Amino acid sequence: MKQFEKDFLLGAATAAHQVEGNNIYSDYWAQEQMAHSSFVDKSGIACDHYNRYKEDIKLLADAGLNTYRFSIEWARIEPEEGNFKQEEINHYIDMIDYCKENNIEPIITLHHFTSPAWLIKKGGWEADTTPDYFERYTRYVLEHIKDKVNYICTINEANMGIQVKSLMERFKKQMMAQAKNAGGDNQVQMGLNMQKMLENQKLVALENMEVFGTASPQIFNSTARSEHGDELVKEAHKKARAVIKELNPNIKVGITLSLHDIQYIDGGKDIADKEWVDEFTHYLDAIKDDDFLGVQNYTRSVYDKNGIMSAPENATLTQMGYEFYPEALENVIRKVAKDFKGDLIVTENGIATDDDKQRVEFISKALDGVNNCINDGLPVKGYCYWSLMDNFEWQKGFALTFGLIAIDRETLKRTPKPSLEYLGSYIK
Ligand code: BGC
Repeated sequence: MKQFEKDFLLGAATAAHQVEGNNIYSDYWAQEQMAHSSFVDKSGIACDHYNRYKEDIKLLADAGLNTYRFSIEWARIEPEEGNFKQEEINHYIDMIDYCKENNIEPIITLHHFTSPAWLIKKGGWEADTTPDYFERYTRYVLEHIKDKVNYICTINEANMGIQVKSLMERFKKQMMAQAKNAGGDNQVQMGLNMQKMLENQKLVALENMEVFGTASPQIFNSTARSEHGDELVKEAHKKARAVIKELNPNIKVGITLSLHDIQYIDGGKDIADKEWVDEFTHYLDAIKDDDFLGVQNYTRSVYDKNGIMSAPENATLTQMGYEFYPEALENVIRKVAKDFKGDLIVTENGIATDDDKQRVEFISKALDGVNNCINDGLPVKGYCYWSLMDNFEWQKGFALTFGLIAIDRETLKRTPKPSLEYLGSYIK
């Protein structure tokens, strides 16, 4: 095992909605309560990290880690439009201070998927007004945290809406193929399936009207993003970066992107190249002046001439159904470093598994890759494992366990897994 130098940012990440609990003014909370919700669980109290953050940060520090990436929840700071809550920003300042007391470097994320429900009522992530609202929220946060942090991620996985779009298109194609394979008339089969889907869509649309005042709420990553929406996300990032630099030029600013290790075989090059443009290259213009890029990677995706392939038959799959492929991280770092010239921080990388030995193996291989990149002179400044604790995995609920710390769902008792100590042992 090759350890990292003391100034390497080694830690773990969480996101407010997934761990804090009772994020009642957010769009996700509203979706979770709906009768036609696609969430298998409600976030509810989540991990009660809002009240227990000291215990959690202490566990991270005791394991030898030096970095904690967490998000500030916009829906808490501005639960109603223009009504900013001093006590909520104070809460996050307390968290930052507590990190520092424990020699932990806080990396703050301003937007990690959730938005205030009021923003969605105003058109959400397809509305021209959203970048300005995001800028105003960022200004409020910065005026309060001033020089207390050194690193800020503006938007988490800014490219997620684009990925959701291609996933939906793929899903539609698969449904059509399945209908065909089932031996039926494709049109009719589709017609029948579509009928059902449309019926459901109608109910969902009605409920959305009630909750968000629109049949198709533009929530950050539950809907396919249009090209215009994608431009708005970039604009929101640039506006937030400008405000941060105006109020404190010393803070290092970056965005985070969800990046697959895109590979290809047999005629798949063109599709793979296009995927990489959608996933990464077309953001370059918006991020080229950033101080760092947050690299987020979980697995690879392989393309042939027909598109994305299933994982190889002998592959080990994680709880998410992804191929166990920790080597992906090194490949992705090398690829982005060709075009992005700022620093690189791995802001998320991890595995959902109930076998902690497998997690240790994943971390060990992923960090070998990080070390290889550093040895070759690539500017990798940090690695945050996803996630510090088992948490609310969005629509898929609590069953998927990414954490270095287990959370008893009845008592919320924390139990560090051996992987926590293992990750901590990588720092000199
Ligand atoms: C997100 C996290 C999520 C993780 C695991 C990332 O896409 O930023 O919020 O929990 O992946 O699926």
